[in-house]
Amino acid sequence: MIIRLDKYLADTGFGTRSTVKQLVRKGSVQIDGVTVKSSDLKVDTEKTVVTVNGKIVGYEAFEYYMLNKPAGVISASTDEREKTVVDIISEKKRRDLFPVGRLDRDTVGLLLITNDGALSQKLLAPGKHVEKVYLVRVTGELTDEDKRAFEEGLDIGDDKLTKPAGLEIKTIGMYSIEGQHFVRSDAYDAELVTEAEVTLTEGRFHQIKRMFEARGHEVVYLKRLSMGSLKLDDSLAEGEYRKLTEEELTELGG
Ligand code: URA
Repeated sequence: MIIRLDKYLADTGFGTRSTVKQLVRKGSVQIDGVTVKSSDLKVDTEKTVVTVNGKIVGYEAFEYYMLNKPAGVISASTDEREKTVVDIISEKKRRDLFPVGRLDRDTVGLLLITNDGALSQKLLAPGKHVEKVYLVRVTGELTDEDKRAFEEGLDIGDDKLTKPAGLEIKTIGMYSIEGQHFVRSDAYDAELVTEAEVTLTEGRFHQIKRMFEARGHEVVYLKRLSMGSLKLDDSLAEGEYRKLTEEELTELGG
């Protein structure tokens, strides 16, 4: 791809177009080893070697990261007060990264972070029905009736019922709250909690929490496990991320 030098530098994190123009004017930028003073020169993102103060700058048109989102961080690109999921990606080159869809502040798990708008639209478009699977723990005991209600669609206070969703009950047990976590326990204050997997093909605001609320249960833990073909890598601890592999990206349609 042939682009202007100022765009190349802005895209790779050297600041706004006007900041990078100053950088070039100061003589800090070289193209194929030669110092240049003009920002409107054209560079080939595949072939030209651009250096800033002697350091090679690699250009990537698109970046794709899989993040295991921790609790307490918001699903946004930037925020004046709060830490965002994009702030966690410290090795990013691009300044235009965003999360594909949103997870609530207290939800953990899989989040794709990219600057590929076309892929994001493909994954989020309501007509595409991309499946998202979540691990959920809720208060009380879930039953086959809850399963049926999820399959039939629930009234969660919106214009329309929710689309058919999958509910697979995994385990039912006694748990106590320890800090932010629920741990299996036989303590006197332990509560009955059901662990289940939910599969959704839409993404309404607080959807899973509202679906369980409509059935009389409170969500105490929510983790996204997958989105379409992309599965959360279990070697990533909460707060860790890695680049998508070529294979993951191809399967996802990027
Ligand atoms: N449903 C919710 O209620 N919260 C999320 O973060 C994702 C799905």
